[in-house]
Amino acid sequence: MTIHRLFLMAACFAMISLASCTETGPASTAPKAKVSLIPLPAKLSETEDSFLLDKQTILVATAPEDKQTAALFNAYFKELSGYALKVEDKGEHNAIIFQSLPKDQPGLPESYQMKVKKDLITIHGDDAAGTFYGMQTLLQLLPVQKANAFWIAGVDISDQPRFPYRGLHLDVGRHFFPVEFIKKYIDLLAMHKMNTFHWHLTEDQGWRIEIKKYPKLQEIASRRKESMVGHYNDQKFDGKPYGGFYTQEQIRDVVKYATERHVTVIPEIEMPGHSLAALTAYPYLGCTGGPYQVGTKWGVFDDVYCAGNDSVFTFLQDVLDEVMILFPGKYIHIGGDECPKVRWEKCPKCQQRMRTEGLKDAHALQSYFIQRIEKYLNSKGRQIIGWDEILEGGLAPNATVMSWRGIEGGVAAAKQHHDVIMTPGGYLYFDHYQSQGKNEPIAIGGFTPVSKVYSYEPVPQELGKDEAKYIRGAQANVWTEYIKNPEHVEYMVYPRATALAEVLWTPADKRNYDNFLERLKSHLPRLELKGVNYAKHVFEVRGIVESDNKGGVQVKLDSKLDGGKITYTLDSSAPTAKSTPYTTPIPVQKTGMIRAAVFQGEQQYGNEFQQAFHFHKAMGKNITLAKPPHQNYNPGSPFALVNGIEGVKEFSDNQWTGYSGGNLEAVIDLGDSTVISTVGLNTLSNKDQWIYPPKQVTFFVSRDGKQYKEVYKQTEIGGNGIIRLRHGLTDVKGRYVKVVVQNWGNIPTGAPGAGNPAWLFVDEIFVN
Ligand code: ACM
Ligand code: ZN
Repeated sequence: MTIHRLFLMAACFAMISLASCTETGPASTAPKAKVSLIPLPAKLSETEDSFLLDKQTILVATAPEDKQTAALFNAYFKELSGYALKVEDKGEHNAIIFQSLPKDQPGLPESYQMKVKKDLITIHGDDAAGTFYGMQTLLQLLPVQKANAFWIAGVDISDQPRFPYRGLHLDVGRHFFPVEFIKKYIDLLAMHKMNTFHWHLTEDQGWRIEIKKYPKLQEIASRRKESMVGHYNDQKFDGKPYGGFYTQEQIRDVVKYATERHVTVIPEIEMPGHSLAALTAYPYLGCTGGPYQVGTKWGVFDDVYCAGNDSVFTFLQDVLDEVMILFPGKYIHIGGDECPKVRWEKCPKCQQRMRTEGLKDAHALQSYFIQRIEKYLNSKGRQIIGWDEILEGGLAPNATVMSWRGIEGGVAAAKQHHDVIMTPGGYLYFDHYQSQGKNEPIAIGGFTPVSKVYSYEPVPQELGKDEAKYIRGAQANVWTEYIKNPEHVEYMVYPRATALAEVLWTPADKRNYDNFLERLKSHLPRLELKGVNYAKHVFEVRGIVESDNKGGVQVKLDSKLDGGKITYTLDSSAPTAKSTPYTTPIPVQKTGMIRAAVFQGEQQYGNEFQQAFHFHKAMGKNITLAKPPHQNYNPGSPFALVNGIEGVKEFSDNQWTGYSGGNLEAVIDLGDSTVISTVGLNTLSNKDQWIYPPKQVTFFVSRDGKQYKEVYKQTEIGGNGIIRLRHGLTDVKGRYVKVVVQNWGNIPTGAPGAGNPAWLFVDEIFVN
């Protein structure tokens, strides 16, 4: 340790956190470095030791994969220190040992033991991936300030993942992202101990993987004439040609890069739907023969691969042959979602196929399609993954199901003893909004803040212990209709992915959101160091609109920002550091706006909270629903229907109460018998998103909650966007108001989602 000591002075100058430097040696001057890891290890204890990492420290690795991990450590470390460390075959002093168990002694997959002692750091993986994850932990034990020597806190860690599948997806079809960014995406994934990158490579709006046998996929399918701008409903286009694809050489490079980081890349080649780009290049692949045009709108297209034409299977098998050479992993994702059956219903070839194969309907034909592809891939030693629609018409025998339309698909598949990856939209779609702030960049919809991601439990309660083991893990999906560039991808994915990483890695009983947020404060600078454009919502001011339990509504404000000061205004003016300081919940007593912000000194941090209220008599009153809403559009409590807040047309604000196919029936207790002069509600119509106005709305009033009298009924409800129904009443008095809102029913033929149940959305119910 003599050399170690000599370098201590240099280290003193370099380290910001070192309060006083003397020459008494590392033991007495070692500052207590912070331990703040994401995801939190399974077992972690801090010790009194500290290790000083400096230019004399050596890395010790012998097996090729451990040498690879040491080299990666060096590459990251060099960014912080400006120098690389020597890699040796042995050493026990001032050394960091990376050592995996030999391959013939497999332990727990991806697990590792790590000890940081005064003079030695050891990382022992049960396998090479485990050692790599130990290395990632070590990187997170380093401070983020650039220096030439670093104190590392003494720790004793025994760590392994909760789930074997820990994934992030990226759609490169709607928008194309360069190889350098794909690598950064993978690197960040690995930094958070995630192990799967699901590369969504083919779409209606663009085919992004070079297939040598079919050059028109490059020439035609990879380009579109123009793209949609703004929201789908606006139907605006930019008039600019758009395109791009990855060459096979680039793909091999990405796969190699991922493999070095213990990340498996799962390619997705979509079928039978989302295939318009391929049909445009080779029109014989479709039922009608075209001509087709690479998609310029978002959404779902009726033109899909013909299931009755054998040359479609020849094409797909040829494509998959090239794909399998590029992607050596076990899984190939074959899509299977959102495949309209309208062309198949009319296509003589498809109808003939149904007859010869004895298939009773179009779902069975889709199942035939997927099973035929599965059989081919199984014969080459590969397994398929498909979106949960592959359950319809019968699951292919060995398929893994990705449950995205909620958790039901996952539950059904696990009960059939099929492997499942959970990716439910309500928790793990990172194309959803993460803030209700008015300045958010446009997103597809939904509301999935970091806290919601963190609260996600991948194993559905519906499953017994023997079934739960089929839940292999979870994944967040990043669809890019509204995400045009790498910076925006990062904004949508981080820090939400850090929350997902902990859901997937850390034992469930160790998860604690407040503790996670504390660690996130130290973690965000690490993302900054890597140049990640992460979103800053977690520490900005938050407003909670709640019942005051006395028949009224109040707003609670809160921020996790250390030392932040929250102020607010009630007159619609922008809050400043000098506005009214927030102390207790603010009662809502009139129509108007509450604005609030959190300040560090004079400086505002993050977005402000802004909420408009429409005051009415039912606000904050007791309300009950006959039937709970659908889990994806459940604001958490029927209170949202009478909180004075109107849901917005993007339905991104967790205000709307939604039913897929069902009716809404609510009873409001006004507390006392009251004169009622207006009843009404807001509902939503957005037919492209399968949201339909009600067939009928009926209001009833009662004095005793038993005998109800109808006071108003409306049918023929039309309009687009938010529909505000209001009706004046005379001579009506009562204590209870009941409203029955009848769902439209099934979506009519020819409309997007035809045949599926329509969504009914309601927010807010008004009584005056
Ligand atoms: C999907 O979101 N269509 C899988
Ligand atoms: Zn056909």
